[in-house]
Amino acid sequence: MAVLQEVGQEIMQWSERLALHSEPGWAEKGQLTVTYLTPAHLAVADELKALMGEAGFDEISIDAVGNVVGIYFGEDRASPMLLTGSHYDTVRNGGKYDGRLGILVPIAVVKSLSSQKRRLPYGIEVVGFSEEEGQRFRATFLAAGALTGSFDPAWLSQLDADGVSMAEAMQAAGLPGTLSAIQNIQRDPKKYLGFVEVHIEQGPVLCEKALPLGVVTSINAGVRATCKTIGLAGHAGTTPMSMRQDAMLAAAEISLMAEQRARADEGSVATVGQIQVPGGSINVIPGECVFTLDMRAPTDPQRDALVTDIVKEAEVICARRQVQFEYTEVMRASAAPSNPEWQSRWERAVAKIGQPIFKLNSGAGHDAMKMHTIMPQAMLFVRGGNRGISHNPLEIITADDATLAAKAFEALLEEIN
Ligand code: GLV
Ligand code: MN
Ligand code: MN
Repeated sequence: MAVLQEVGQEIMQWSERLALHSEPGWAEKGQLTVTYLTPAHLAVADELKALMGEAGFDEISIDAVGNVVGIYFGEDRASPMLLTGSHYDTVRNGGKYDGRLGILVPIAVVKSLSSQKRRLPYGIEVVGFSEEEGQRFRATFLAAGALTGSFDPAWLSQLDADGVSMAEAMQAAGLPGTLSAIQNIQRDPKKYLGFVEVHIEQGPVLCEKALPLGVVTSINAGVRATCKTIGLAGHAGTTPMSMRQDAMLAAAEISLMAEQRARADEGSVATVGQIQVPGGSINVIPGECVFTLDMRAPTDPQRDALVTDIVKEAEVICARRQVQFEYTEVMRASAAPSNPEWQSRWERAVAKIGQPIFKLNSGAGHDAMKMHTIMPQAMLFVRGGNRGISHNPLEIITADDATLAAKAFEALLEEIN
């Protein structure tokens, strides 16, 4: 296969092109926020369609959950497909490469194949997953969930912060918004060789080791929950400290306890990423506090022990403070060890392009961990600059590393027989 030329520059330009679209309130500040089915999100989907068109894909479509799907057939249209891709939604004030890099790299490789009029013995299906971050709705991985048959029907009636249901949001975006349409896009694993995903590392390891690429061995397990503490609102001036049922202080104590519990393990993490006192006032003891918990660990049993301990201790804290505790799990994803065969294909691909093979596990969640439930998967990480910071506008990669990622992807294609 012809060696790709400075494709990294093009991938960087495409990333900038996608990053032109951000939501009101964020765009004015130069910040990137693209959550599910907002106008900015639909604009990114259109850009991806256009890029796939320019790259020479045979079929390009937007499916019932807003995934952008490009197919580049193999020599025979009936031949099996390699499935690849990543997500194009972002966290609030996120980076330009989280997710998107894993769509743009395979688009660049298909562009190279199609410009050579080259067909492989298998097809390539690139999916720009519409939702992975769980921002607008508490429905993390809904896009990959639809492909794997784990789309929760209850999600359709879930409301966003403005009271818009997911079904309404889908219909407003021109999608059917029905369960049957969503169930129709479930993939039959028999038609696929496997799933591979390229992703920015989102951590410091590759940057510190001065390595451009890393082969992922496993993705950590995770659980997310929304929590509420309910105490008693009261006068901030007259209520003695010993007589309060402060919902926010209970949440604060739970946050610190979760930190301590996670620190007690090798590789566990726990985060309270959102915390609010709805309708609170400067001179009112918080009567209610809502917050989120995100808990992860390298294996399912370690994750389960972490979650059990945190929930049990939260109940103890709340009982002592005479505060009620409500806990609703909104996401549970199993650890996803890479398929050994696909992982070694990535290793050989990295070696073939003259780079050292370095293996690491993923602390972040990825579409691959959902695809894992129906087909073999393995991921390739690309070094992030700025010490690998991610979920932050400082997230950055270099064009040279993007070129290496594309070369590694191209080399991976040669490893499939
Ligand atoms: C996805 O970005 C995650 O939270 O791991
Ligand atoms: Mn992310
Ligand atoms: Mn991501």
